[in-house]
Amino acid sequence: MDRGFLFGDGVYEVFPAYNRKIIGLDSHLNRLQDGLDAISIKNPHTNNEWKDLINKIISFDPNNQNQAIYLQISRGSDENRKHTYGELKPTVYIQSSAINPREKSTLLNGLSAITREDIRWLKSNTKATSLLANTLYAQEAKNNDAEETILYRDGIVTEASSSNVFIVKSNCIYTHPKGPNILPGITREKVIECAKINNFNVEESSFTKEQLMNADEVWISSSTREIIPITIIDGIQISDGFAGPIWSEVYDQYQSLKS
Ligand code: PDD
Repeated sequence: MDRGFLFGDGVYEVFPAYNRKIIGLDSHLNRLQDGLDAISIKNPHTNNEWKDLINKIISFDPNNQNQAIYLQISRGSDENRKHTYGELKPTVYIQSSAINPREKSTLLNGLSAITREDIRWLKSNTKATSLLANTLYAQEAKNNDAEETILYRDGIVTEASSSNVFIVKSNCIYTHPKGPNILPGITREKVIECAKINNFNVEESSFTKEQLMNADEVWISSSTREIIPITIIDGIQISDGFAGPIWSEVYDQYQSLKS
């Protein structure tokens, strides 16, 4: 009778931990709070309690691997299946799994993506557990031997099925602004910080699918993927077909967040 199971009525977070240290811990917890507020679930823990719980899970791994901590909070269990809800006790689920983001040397030729129209609801900034559209897009990518499905709405690139999208044109980095059409990725935030540290211009402004196809570089970012260059989209080569020099610098800067 858990509404997470019955309705996908919940929110979640994925925290990347390297050497037992989470990149962007406070930002992830803030986004979790925003998601809970958006769907009116009372946060069952304080941030300090969450930190203790998460660190405990991380410490259970005897091999001290790099880990993705998955945390889900559903609205809780009810007596009957009904769409509406009253006061329920939120269900908390936490798990850890190993993450092994790809080595830089394996990314130099970039990976491929496909594109699809973004037909998701207009609350994509809430990290909701109801991810049917996203999983179907991801599966389509897999069926096409692609890494990701990049989404566009009314010709504007929004994000991808489980990552944010960046392009580089004439040495400027562009990514869709925050708002209801994209998840405000924590890695996206870190990528922007890393780019600025390296003195690159970053514009949080939207770009079209045509600009995507004509970009000098295309990247995707997420907590589990980090920053991945995309060099083939819908079977068409992007720029010279190799991961770009700006990606390389931002990628290296991002690695420094792990120590
Ligand atoms: N997904 N956009 C979507 C739709 C996502 O699902 C994700 C992350 C991102 C990137 O967000 P972040 O940088 O905070 O990981 C963007 C996670 C990893 C997942 O669902 O497993």
